[in-house]
Amino acid sequence: MEQIQIAASTHSYKVEIGASLRFQLESIIEGSYKNILVITDSEVAPLYLEDVKQSFPSHVEITEHIVPAGEASKSMEQYSRLMDTCIARQLDRKSLIVGLGGGMVGDLAGFAAATYLRGIDFLQMPTTILAHDSSVGGKVAINHTQGKNLIGCFYNPIQVIYDTETLSSLPSAEIRSGFGEVVKHALLSDSAWCEEILKTNILHLSSEQLNEYLAKGIKVKAQIVEEDEKEQGIRKHLNLGHTLAHALEAELGYGRITHGEAVAIGIWFAMRVSEQYLEASLPVGNYIKWLQMNHYPINLAETIDPDRIIERMKWDKKTVDSQIHYVLLEAVGNPVVQKIEEGLIKEYLSDFIKEVSGIDERN
Ligand SMILES: NC(=O)c1ccc[n+]([C@@H]2O[C@H](COP(=O)([O-])OP(=O)(O)OC[C@H]3O[C@@H](n4cnc5c(N)ncnc54)[C@H](O)[C@@H]3O)[C@@H](O)[C@H]2O)c1
Ligand SMILES: [Zn+2]
Repeated sequence: MEQIQIAASTHSYKVEIGASLRFQLESIIEGSYKNILVITDSEVAPLYLEDVKQSFPSHVEITEHIVPAGEASKSMEQYSRLMDTCIARQLDRKSLIVGLGGGMVGDLAGFAAATYLRGIDFLQMPTTILAHDSSVGGKVAINHTQGKNLIGCFYNPIQVIYDTETLSSLPSAEIRSGFGEVVKHALLSDSAWCEEILKTNILHLSSEQLNEYLAKGIKVKAQIVEEDEKEQGIRKHLNLGHTLAHALEAELGYGRITHGEAVAIGIWFAMRVSEQYLEASLPVGNYIKWLQMNHYPINLAETIDPDRIIERMKWDKKTVDSQIHYVLLEAVGNPVVQKIEEGLIKEYLSDFIKEVSGIDERN
């Protein structure tokens, strides 16, 4: 088991990473609780909920709350039902909420924990690769019909317990999705690691290698959020690839492409913009080969209309006074934020769509 300590402004917490941790909760959980609410989704529940419930000490009263799998559950409606459960089960300030699942469950459970009784303890048990990112850093939220994550706050977990054995049941699209954020962490921090990932077929990784990459990714994120928890400065770097990704997700309709797959395409675009705007020298050729080797859904980007994408990018939370703020790379490991004029971005985007259209997805 590997431990990473994260120093948040409110308290410091540990991320425990290792195989089979879901069977060892009694010894790993630091706090002592009489009442625990485990929130999970309908796909994770049949796989891991019983293991988790059995692993708490026998005197603990455990309630489960299962939401339908999928982004649509990060909603006001599901949040409201969760509050009903918390109240019906008389959870008090000494109770614990556990989020068992991917980023959707983590964000929803975290927002419930942050707001119920003005905040009760929250423990994350991530079960997706993507959640190596979402479970660290304290951002919790639900969606509004007008946009993703519009209702939320900063609320750090008391502990993160990452049983990497649970990742073995992930479908390939979710592995790709998670690796969109892993490769982002590599590009933000370390060119040797990045080179290594770009040679990797992510569907055939050994569990040791996967654990190592997840721990590295968590350390990169931890270092950034420790320095800038509330996103006043360098935390913005974590949005590499995300301006286009959010626009793509919204434009294509959530569900046709996963978040991390969209991020992977967004990173490709950010690299091309960096080359042109900053004259950066980046491993774009290897990056494209990596996307192809791992079957990222590149061809979806051909179907987009630059004007509509620009409008959506202007709506992104990183937009200030209608100017699009872009995270670019001066080099691997050297991100910067640049304000780029709309006309120029449109040119870059048109070139990018042409490039994407000329590339064979399956290599
Ligand atoms: N808080 C943050 O800092 C942050 C950062 C990045 C993303 N997010 C949020 O995270 C969410 C995306 O997270 P995600 O990609 O983990 O999505 P997700 O939680 O929806 O999980 C993806 C799918 O995989 C299934 N699944 C989960 N674990 C599984 C397992 N072990 N085996 C088989 N299937 C499993 C889920 O049921 C779901 O169908 C989005 O809502 C996004 O906004 C938050
Ligand atoms: Zn992301």
